[in-house]
Amino acid sequence: MTKQSGADDLTERVEEATQRIGRELWSQLSRRKPTVFERRWWLDHILEWAMQDESVKIQMFRFVDVLPMLKSSATVTQHLQEYFDEVRDQLPVAARLGLDVAQPDSILGKALALNARNNARKMAERFIAGEKPEEVLKSVARLRKQGLAFSLDLLGEAIISDSEADAYQQAYLHLIENLAPEVNQWPDDAVLDQDHQGWIPKCQVSLKLSGLVSHFRPVDADGMSKRVKERLRPIFRLARELNAYVHIDMENYECKPLTLQIFQEILMEDEFRDWPDCGIVIQAYLPDAGDDLQSLLSFAKERGTSIGIRLVKGAYWDYETITAEYRGWPCPVYTNKWESDHNFEVQTRFLFENYKYLRPAIASHNLRSLAHAIAWAEELKIPANAWEIQMLYGMAEEQQQLFSELGHRVRIYTPFGQLLPGMSYLVRRLLENTSNESFLRLAYDQSRSIDELLKDPQLTGQQSESQAAVASGA
Ligand code: FAD
Ligand code: 2OP
Repeated sequence: MTKQSGADDLTERVEEATQRIGRELWSQLSRRKPTVFERRWWLDHILEWAMQDESVKIQMFRFVDVLPMLKSSATVTQHLQEYFDEVRDQLPVAARLGLDVAQPDSILGKALALNARNNARKMAERFIAGEKPEEVLKSVARLRKQGLAFSLDLLGEAIISDSEADAYQQAYLHLIENLAPEVNQWPDDAVLDQDHQGWIPKCQVSLKLSGLVSHFRPVDADGMSKRVKERLRPIFRLARELNAYVHIDMENYECKPLTLQIFQEILMEDEFRDWPDCGIVIQAYLPDAGDDLQSLLSFAKERGTSIGIRLVKGAYWDYETITAEYRGWPCPVYTNKWESDHNFEVQTRFLFENYKYLRPAIASHNLRSLAHAIAWAEELKIPANAWEIQMLYGMAEEQQQLFSELGHRVRIYTPFGQLLPGMSYLVRRLLENTSNESFLRLAYDQSRSIDELLKDPQLTGQQSESQAAVASGA
C-alpha cells in the first residue's frame, strides 16, 4: 500500500519506535528478573481465588470494605459467613470448612476472624506504604535511595463532616510542615530534582478535593468551590513557602467539572498566579479528556505560568460503569479497554507537543503506553527532563527500577494512613489488579506474547470492529 501523507509517515515511524523500545524494555525486564513471569506478585491466596471467580471477587471486596468497621472477632466471622455463603461452592475446601464449622464466638471463629484481618492487612501493606506519620520519612528516604522520587498521598476522601475536612486539611499542613524542611536538606539529584525549567521541589504531595469539604459534589457549585478554596489556600500557601509541590488528584466523573473549576480559579488568584509547583490529573478513559486538555492549555497560556498534568487512564472505571447503569445515565467512560489505551496515547502526544505549558507526567504501568510515550518524546525531541514517569506504590516495581536506571525521572505515588479511610483506595487497587484487562495481569500470564502486549490499541479496535461487522453480516 502506498503511503498517503506526511502524517502517516510520522505515526508509522513512532509506531516502529514504540515496538523497538517496548521490546528492548521487555527483554531487559525478563533478563534482570526471571521471576517477573512468576505469579509471585499475587502474594495472597485470597487474591488467587478471587481472580478465578467473579462472584468470589465481588464478595471479597464487599468484605474488605466493611472489615475495618467490625470491632469484634464475632462480627468479623459473622460477616465472613454471610458474604461468602453465597459463593461457598467456589471456595477452596479449607476455607469452606472454616466457614462451616466456626461459631462466631468460638476459638475457631476467633482464629478465622484473625486470619481474615491478617490477610486484609497483608493486602493493604502491598499498596499502602504505612499507617503512622513517623513512618513517612523513612519510606520516602527508602524510595530516594532506590533512585525514585515521591508524591505522598494521605488517605482520606469523600468525607461527610466539616470536622473530618478540617482534620484532612490539618494533616496535610502538618505533613508539609514537617517533611519539606527534612527532604529539602537531601543532596540534590540532577535527575530527580530538575526539569527543563530548573529545580523542582523534592517534597511532593497529592490530595483529593473530596477530603476538603463534606459531601463534595456538584450542587451549589459556587458555595462548594468557596468552601474548598478556603481549606486549600493555606495548604498552597505553606507549600509555596516551604518549596513543596501539590498535585490535585481526579476522582469520579461527577466531580470533574468542580475539580477543574476550583483548580483554575485558585491558581488565577494573585497570590498563586505565578506559582508553578502544582498540577492536576486528566483521565484518558473519558472521551472528553482531549477537550479538557485543550481548555487547560488555554488556561495555562492565559495564566502565564505552566501547570503539571498527570495523565492517567482512570481509577473509577467500575464505579462509573455500575453507577451509570444503575441510574440509567449515559456511561461517561469508554467501555472498550483499547479506547482508553488509544486515548491515552493521543493525549500523551498532545502533552508532549505542549510541554512548555502543560508539564507532562505519564502515569501508567503499561509497558506499551510507556514505550509509546518514550517514542513520542524522542520523535518530538523534547528535553529528557521535561517529563516524568509516575507509578503507584506497590505496583510494577521492576519497571519502576528499570525506568529509573535508564535515566528517567520516576515518581512513586505513595499512599499513607489508616486502613479505614484507605479502604476505597485499596478496593480500587484490588479491582484494578484483578481485572482481566489489566496490563500487569496480562504481563504475568505466560501465554501472552510480547506482540500481543505491545499491540497498537487502534489496531485492536479496528480488528474488533471488523469482526463485529462480519458477525452482524454488514
Ligand atoms: P492498564 O492495565 O493499561 O489500564 C487499566 C485501566 O484501563 C483501568 O484502570 C481503566 O482506566 C481502563 N480500563 C479497564 N478496562 C476498561 C474497559 N473495559 N474499557 C475502557 N477502559 C478500561 N486515577 C484516577 O482516576 N485519578 C488519579 O488521580 C490517579 N492518580 C494516579 C497516579 C499515579 C502515579 C498512577 C500510576 C495512577 C493514578 N491513577 C489515578 C490510576 C490510573 O487511573 C489507573 O487506574 C492505573 O494506573 C492503571 O492503569 P495502567 O495504565 O497502569 O494499566
Ligand atoms: C486513586 O486514589 C491513585 O488517585 C488514585 O485511586
